[in-house]
Amino acid sequence: MSATTFHVAPGGKLTGSIRVPGDKSISHRSIMFGSLADGVTEVTGFLEGDDALATLQAFRDMGVQIDGPETGRVTIHGVGISGLKQPDQPLDMGNSGTSIRLLSGLLAGQGIDVTLVGDRSLSKRPMRRVIDPLTEMGAVVESNEKGTLPLHIKGNASLRGIDYAMPMASAQVKSCVLLAGIYADGDTCVTEPAPTRDHTERMLQAFGYEVTRNGSRACLTGGGRLTASDIEVPADISSAAFFMVAASIAPGSDITLEHVGINPTRIGVINILKAMGGDITLLNERMVGGEPVADIQVRYAALNGIDIPLDQVPLAIDEFPVLFVAAACADGTTILRGAEELRVKESDRIQAMADGLRILGIDAEPTPDGMIIQGGQMGGGCVESHEDHRISMSFAVAALRASDDIVINDCSNVNTSFPDFVSLAASSGIKINV
Ligand code: S3P
Repeated sequence: MSATTFHVAPGGKLTGSIRVPGDKSISHRSIMFGSLADGVTEVTGFLEGDDALATLQAFRDMGVQIDGPETGRVTIHGVGISGLKQPDQPLDMGNSGTSIRLLSGLLAGQGIDVTLVGDRSLSKRPMRRVIDPLTEMGAVVESNEKGTLPLHIKGNASLRGIDYAMPMASAQVKSCVLLAGIYADGDTCVTEPAPTRDHTERMLQAFGYEVTRNGSRACLTGGGRLTASDIEVPADISSAAFFMVAASIAPGSDITLEHVGINPTRIGVINILKAMGGDITLLNERMVGGEPVADIQVRYAALNGIDIPLDQVPLAIDEFPVLFVAAACADGTTILRGAEELRVKESDRIQAMADGLRILGIDAEPTPDGMIIQGGQMGGGCVESHEDHRISMSFAVAALRASDDIVINDCSNVNTSFPDFVSLAASSGIKINV
């Protein structure tokens, strides 16, 4: 059990200009593709959080020489598409769903046997969503009858391409199937029920691997190779989101978030906050290594409750914990539907946030696929993070508008995605102590 507790005093406003750490999704993929490429890949802006470091360690355990990270710089000496070596031990993916689901696809067609394990939270999360399509491709992936960790992946399976209609909107599942497709005979296609983040498709192309896109269907042909390509990782919009909501709810705030990735499949948080009346301006929009980037200025604004558009749900899937805090500070009712995926994240984020908001005096009604929140005055109290990084940080932001202290238990997992959170939050105006 972790002993890190956040104590956050009420009030404050956010000012200044900050750069939050590198994008988690892009950091994971840079290690994976750099390792399997021919040649040397230099990564800058890499997220030195526990999740991306678990991916990095896994590839070291499979024989890849990786130098760093040192202030976000990582050098990966690629071993080529089939150059991974059998690890001596199970690969420990910690808290990271992205590591486990993308790796299971990448490993399904290798010549090595691998066991994948994770922490208590990851060990409860559903893996059938990757086992089923991989099995259809001919992979041998074994788990227990619940479809949870550990996963045992047997080498030397011969894979065939499939045309997969994904039952849920998941970039991890899409990526898993496409990555297995690199090792499969023929074409592999994934059709998604709603657009999900497309960093895998973009980065494969940056590494010289052709991915075709036709509406909601992405396809590639097996048997190709990756060519090393330097990657500059932008700041993570999912980490920036805590500061976007913080500045939006705290009167007098005016903050600029530098060099944030604004990939169209990730900007639901901006669209939703703007629909609530948020004052958000994108500055210096530019392309960096195939990904759009901007500086984002956010000023305080009186927010209104809204019915969150269904098409924004996959585009903001990691940002709902903090968007619920925005809803608690808004005038009127906010309704979220179509977000049942939140129940199988690092925690059940619908229940965890509803319980915490209620402790703070907010009328928050969890539903099977979302939440109904009436904006109101938050008091103080002691809330549980359920060892989920995004729940911890969301309640720290809530204190800006609470009338008393908020104490948040079990916050050490903030290190999985945002190791500098406490110092950046404190320096920009949140009254946080550990
Ligand atoms: C991710 C995909 C999303 C997201 C996760 C990162 C990725 O998960 O929640 O934090 O990097 O592909 P799902 O695919 O389960 O929606």
